[in-house]
Amino acid sequence: MNAGAQVVVIARVLLPAGLEPLRERFEVREGGLEATRERLLEIAPGANALVADPSVPVDRELLDTCGDGLRVVANFAVGYDNVDLEACRERGIAVTNTPDVLTEATAELALALTLAAARRMSDAERDLRAGRWRGWDPAAYRGIEIWGSTVGVVGMGRIGHRYARLARGLGAEILYAGPSAKPEAESELGARRLGLDGLLEASDVVSLHAPAIPETRGLIGPRELELIGPDGVLVNTSRGPLVDSEAVAEALEGGTLGAAGLDVYEGEPDVPQRLLAAPRCVLLPHIGSSTVPARDGMARAVTDNVIAVLEEREPPSRVV
Ligand code: 8YV
Repeated sequence: MNAGAQVVVIARVLLPAGLEPLRERFEVREGGLEATRERLLEIAPGANALVADPSVPVDRELLDTCGDGLRVVANFAVGYDNVDLEACRERGIAVTNTPDVLTEATAELALALTLAAARRMSDAERDLRAGRWRGWDPAAYRGIEIWGSTVGVVGMGRIGHRYARLARGLGAEILYAGPSAKPEAESELGARRLGLDGLLEASDVVSLHAPAIPETRGLIGPRELELIGPDGVLVNTSRGPLVDSEAVAEALEGGTLGAAGLDVYEGEPDVPQRLLAAPRCVLLPHIGSSTVPARDGMARAVTDNVIAVLEEREPPSRVV
């Protein structure tokens, strides 16, 4: 520990790529992977920087516990819906995220989920492992092909665009929905912008790449799932609250939704029991950005942001 050094509180953990440079400059306190809220409130007082991640609610209580010296909340994620931005603004605390470095990783995982769900891989593998495979069956596990299909991208931002490019590479036609027109996606990929309902109706695959904000909460519920339909595939690598999980489970059980591929859930790490039991459903534990280059890049981005703010410079990726 450096006497008189500024204090960086890491709510849970940071990979070595980011941790070492922080340790060289500051006093670093880590909550640990299993850190409870109580433990975090214990180590927070005196923090000049707070490193959080999507599982750590950064609210007024935590900000107040950190105290007046807190200058930056550096989120280890591109999403920052866990941070009370208004409370940070009021207190003059900078908020930063880690864009770009995880774009490829997350887009590739969305494509993997698309293919896995479209081809019923989860059911097929589960049956094989459980000894339920009784031999080749021409009617078993029939899915859809991406070639010649229509893929609807909800949220044509950085990750959505990269995913659309991959799907286009497999021969899909691209539709998108979102708050603004994306001329680059239109000229590069021939993507067409539609309203959400029109996109859901026209798409064979719907992939969500929108942030969790009040406007996107419950974006996909029973009515929207009906529009996606019995042959349609829903993919979510963005945030859990965009999708009504119970409605997805019910639609899968009833055969009114073709398949689903989900990486994110409301209330993680809890996953609704009904979803776990649902057919034609591929479920992953929030691993969208989990590649070596993406996670190391994110850790370095967190650290670059912290060092910049604590050294009185503009951080590379500031959201507030
Ligand atoms: C994980 C993410 O949350 O960047 C995001 O917004 O959701 C993912 O990258 C992150 O890796 C966990 O810290």
